[in-house]
Amino acid sequence: MTMNWKMNASMLSAALLIAAPAAFGDGAEVYAKNCASCHGKDGKGETTMGKKAKVKDYTDAKVQASFTDAEALKVIQEGKEKMKGYKDKVTEAEAKELVAYIRAFKK
Ligand code: HEC
Repeated sequence: MTMNWKMNASMLSAALLIAAPAAFGDGAEVYAKNCASCHGKDGKGETTMGKKAKVKDYTDAKVQASFTDAEALKVIQEGKEKMKGYKDKVTEAEAKELVAYIRAFKK
């Protein structure tokens, strides 16, 4: 009985793990559409707009250490300097995925 329950539970969580990316995306698409124009596909910000807006290099560990996840989330929602907020464009869940996506640029 216990064995069966455990197996079902682990099978269920495996199914959820497989289903999650399809259901929520990984931020990549949202990033490519809204953010890459300034921050670059690689997070370095070496785009025409990125250079103009003076974005930082998100592959740089020091830059990554300069803001917390909560701060990044706030910037994505409310904006900062030349970056406008994305509150009405991305959901809170998507904004959180974007934070994780930005974090993944770190070398
Ligand atoms: C018009 C250009 C532009 C676009 C588009 C843009 N950003 Fe920004 N972003 C900036 C600028 C400028 C800053 C402030 C300087 C910096 O921290 O690099 C900034 C800062 C940030 C920060 C916070 C860094 C900190 O120091 O607090 C994060 C995180 C971020 N952007 C993520 C995103 C995400 C995710 C998107 C897409 C939803 C996006 N940006 C779209 C220009 C842009």
